[in-house]
Amino acid sequence: MSWTKKHLLDIESLAAEEIVTVLDTARGFKAVGQRAIKKVPALRGKTVVNLFVEPSTRTRISFELAEQRLSADVINFSAEASSFKKGETLKDTALNLQALNADFIVIRHSASGAPHFLSRVLGAHVINAGDGAHEHPTQALLDAFTIRERKGTIEGLNVTILGDILYSRVARSNIWALTKLGARLTLCGPSTLVPKVFEQMGCRVTHDVNDAISAADIIHLLRIQHERQRKAMFPSIGEYAQLFGLNKARLAQTKPGALIMHPGPINRGVEIDSQIADGERSVILEQVTNGLAVRMAVLFLLNGGKGPLEGMTND
Ligand code: CP
Repeated sequence: MSWTKKHLLDIESLAAEEIVTVLDTARGFKAVGQRAIKKVPALRGKTVVNLFVEPSTRTRISFELAEQRLSADVINFSAEASSFKKGETLKDTALNLQALNADFIVIRHSASGAPHFLSRVLGAHVINAGDGAHEHPTQALLDAFTIRERKGTIEGLNVTILGDILYSRVARSNIWALTKLGARLTLCGPSTLVPKVFEQMGCRVTHDVNDAISAADIIHLLRIQHERQRKAMFPSIGEYAQLFGLNKARLAQTKPGALIMHPGPINRGVEIDSQIADGERSVILEQVTNGLAVRMAVLFLLNGGKGPLEGMTND
């Protein structure tokens, strides 16, 4: 199946077949990344602007490397050193980037809907690299890729997402992606951060951590997103760690093959004990590795590339 979408704004609007096409294409790009020469000419002559108006380590670096591996010309836009500081709007900033003939805008913004807004005012392809508490589509795609690679399939798996669901764009994108691919989702955390309304997205909601993790094939942990919370949602970080953190005793209650995932950044000793983050069940750094292949696949498909890679030669 080839992709017909111009932008990647969210997972909600993707069909399961489109998600699978990204995952299959990413598998080819992961193989390209294991060659001696890792660069291919798929985006030669194209200009990509990374417009990050909110902090990022993994997503920004991963997109930048993906674009370089595809031979694109890459511009990294830093909000701190830009005319945002002088009051220029997002729309005017983006129109200036378009006036320089940017072909792709990769945007991270604290406002939900910022990528959708740009997609309406620009001719360039727009990729959402995380918008407020709304969605983080490439994170969900790399998570799905990692699960499928490790477990062989996603359909029928029990996936638990544990932590601050309410303020998490990663949770929303993962819920959309994994339910479309046939997983059974359980959400867990303090009742203030995991309201029952999430049942409307086809998830089971529980506030009992042992109930949430005992039958899980995948335990996906989330940090507390203090930057988006407008009031205290639970008494203290210490209490959160005690009641919901994944520690050695809780890990012993899980299935032996259950994988531990986290989108990062991790807060060691809060949602996850350090030994578990670095332990053999953790695939946290594999997620980062896979993110590169997934982002190459997304850029390739949005540029009109067809299906799983075959015969893609080096530059
Ligand atoms: N997972 C994730 O989005 O990490 P960054 O905020 O570092 O990009």
